[in-house]
Amino acid sequence: MTAFPEKRILLIIGGGIAAYKTLELIRRLRERGIFVRVVMTEAAKKFVTKLSVESLTGSEVFDELFALTGDSGMGHIELSRDADLLVAAPATADLLAKMAQGLAGDLASTLLLATDKKILAAPAMNVRMWLHPATQRSVALLQKDGVIFVGPESGDMACGEYGLGRMSEPAGILTAIEHLLSGDMRLPLPGDLSDESAGPGSLKGRRVVITSGPTHEPIDPVRYIANRSSGKQGHAIAAAAAAAGANVVLISGPVSLADPFGVKTIHVETAQEMLTQVEAALPADIFIGVAAVADWRVAETSLAKIKKHPEETPALTLVENPDILAAIGRRSKDRPALVVGFAAESEKLQENAQAKLIAKNCDMIVANDVTEAGVLGGESNKVSLLTKQGKENLPLMTKQKVAARLIEKIAGMLGGNGQ
Ligand code: CTP
Repeated sequence: MTAFPEKRILLIIGGGIAAYKTLELIRRLRERGIFVRVVMTEAAKKFVTKLSVESLTGSEVFDELFALTGDSGMGHIELSRDADLLVAAPATADLLAKMAQGLAGDLASTLLLATDKKILAAPAMNVRMWLHPATQRSVALLQKDGVIFVGPESGDMACGEYGLGRMSEPAGILTAIEHLLSGDMRLPLPGDLSDESAGPGSLKGRRVVITSGPTHEPIDPVRYIANRSSGKQGHAIAAAAAAAGANVVLISGPVSLADPFGVKTIHVETAQEMLTQVEAALPADIFIGVAAVADWRVAETSLAKIKKHPEETPALTLVENPDILAAIGRRSKDRPALVVGFAAESEKLQENAQAKLIAKNCDMIVANDVTEAGVLGGESNKVSLLTKQGKENLPLMTKQKVAARLIEKIAGMLGGNGQ
């Protein structure tokens, strides 16, 4: 555990059910020696009490705009400048909209406006609120202003729905905070994309598009065709590329993983949606197809749930899905400089992988033996990196280590020294 004894965080708790998770976050921050000052919105106080927060932080909670000269004698400018980092968690739709518009009608929004420090926002709201164009407009504006987002994630929601909008877990928010406090987080912002400081193994200034996870191909409103991919390898590669300074777009099928920090993550369900989003994300310097894209979809998805009949078993007619990797590899316009695919094989690994390298016009194939214990859905992977020039066999290692080596190799192929 890294300690940050000199660091100070101003935590702004918005009014959402996820506010309870910030209590755990405060505890973990305090364990790291970080001083946490808390501001609560009126709505936040309906979910957690000032007393709980004050017991955990050991200091006064601020909640009123016009009472700032009280015990602490701090004005609002001082309060927001005194911190090394501002964290808005949960960042509700209301708080994000206020921030995007520069409104300052209460203490929380005033401090977010008065600051000259980085702001980390952990959104939490109902999926429809998150996907609403008004919220997405706020997020786009805030990202342009340099606000950093962690989450939201997919999952069951307190309101009974399922989807994107859950606040990241305290551990995920903590990782983001630690990166920011260490000053080693390279943000994928437009202004950050100059090539000038690119070093060996660096992908600074490069745009990388990555697919990850399985795809789900609907049969009817309740059933779908899926596969065992967890998305762990693809997400680890996206995180490694972002850590190497790249501007990363991750197009992910349904997974139960957090969006990697510092990566623009787009969530899709089907192979066709994945292809559309990949094409929309181009042009890019590098495309890495890690997703276990379903090879087939049902020819006609039933709009109604298919019912059981005693004398009749339904027959599914399948049609082939687009091959995303091949479509990108064979592009004549806007083909990324490096196209990297995966080959999940259970036999004749090298031979099949070599065939995919040629057939899909790739520059590299990462061949993995899916019969190896712990590979499918697990934490480790055993891969060979195949290029037209030769191959490199890596031993069984964690998916994070595979990701780091792959990114290093890619950076080398593009002109660094990772080859
Ligand atoms: N891939 C893709 N679109 C598909 C199928 C596969 O983009 N419709 C990509 C995967 O992301 C991976 C590579 O192609 O990078 C190889 O996937 P794999 O499942 O190993 O091979 P397939 O081409 O599907 O061939 P097969 O299942 O016959 O081995």
